[in-house]
Amino acid sequence: MMAPEAYRSGEFYRAEIDWVFPASWVFVGHERWVPAPGDYLAETVGEEPVLVIRNADGALRAFPNVCPHRASLLVEGRGNCDRRLVCPYHGWTFGLDGRLLAVPRQRGFASPINPDELGLRELRLDVWEGLVFVNVTGDAPPLLDYLEDVPDLLGGHDIASMHLGESLDDPIAANWKLVMDNAVCDYHLDIVHRESIAALVHMEALTARAGTTTAITSVPWKESELPAEPRPGLAGAAAEGSLGCFVFPNLHVIGFPTGGATIMWWTPTGPATTRARVLGLSHDADADVRSGKELLARVQREDFDVCEKMQIGVQSRVYEPGPQHATELRITTFQRRLLEMVQHAFDRGDDRLIGVGR
Ligand code: FES
Ligand SMILES: [Fe+2]
Repeated sequence: MMAPEAYRSGEFYRAEIDWVFPASWVFVGHERWVPAPGDYLAETVGEEPVLVIRNADGALRAFPNVCPHRASLLVEGRGNCDRRLVCPYHGWTFGLDGRLLAVPRQRGFASPINPDELGLRELRLDVWEGLVFVNVTGDAPPLLDYLEDVPDLLGGHDIASMHLGESLDDPIAANWKLVMDNAVCDYHLDIVHRESIAALVHMEALTARAGTTTAITSVPWKESELPAEPRPGLAGAAAEGSLGCFVFPNLHVIGFPTGGATIMWWTPTGPATTRARVLGLSHDADADVRSGKELLARVQREDFDVCEKMQIGVQSRVYEPGPQHATELRITTFQRRLLEMVQHAFDRGDDRLIGVGR
């Protein structure tokens, strides 16, 4: 398990922001948030500002959300820019394809502006089941390879055609890696969530497996919680319980046997703060979204509470990582890949950053 220094070191955090997030496929939003030409959304990949925009021909494109003139953010939140992005600072104007179209009072520049040099550089973008991912460095493996067997496992859920439901957006006072460790920890479910989700499932039948960029947990539900008939398209583990699919570095997609899914993603906002977001989806547009949201919010609060307690604990001088339980297996996928990427990024290996599990 990772040494506590990793959760409190500013240098380690910087390496993650500079190297881990940009070199990964990072979820940035649902394609139906930007349905029409000119629709955009602003997001961060780690701390890197990016924007996703729907082109005139209907394709999605991603660009840095940073003006090449003086670095102003180009857009915030979600909206429609009506065929051109206009920088809010000095009005440089870009097409939906990123080309620089207009520069106010061009003659004031010492040498002529070359639009080919000063457009927005397109970033690599791909979509799986309506979920939009961006890879800033452009050299991650193809998205479908990166997702390993998640597309097969969740294929029957048909997430792309689900209705978008409730969402949550909350701050947590903890390093994002503690939040991720907890998100892929199956050991705490019947303790922390004993009053909420643990009552619905057969904890003793849980199985987990760890890949390279993904890790899966399969949690069979109690018969009383399952639909009378399996949902069309769902069979085996997908029909009998939840499939929790972690995708490195910060995404969790959970498919439910009832025809719904939950997308959870966590964005670092500083060495000891994280932004936690959840999006509920369902095939049943009339599903009781209110009770769904209440349950989501409750489970989130239960998790935030332990994450914030751990943040205080990892700052203690006495803490050394304890032994790892079999149901903490998925944490290995997350930590191993993260440490490899950070280690690779440092010029020289820094052994202080890698603890040895006991
Ligand atoms: S910063 Fe965008 S036009 Fe100057
Ligand atoms: Fe939890």
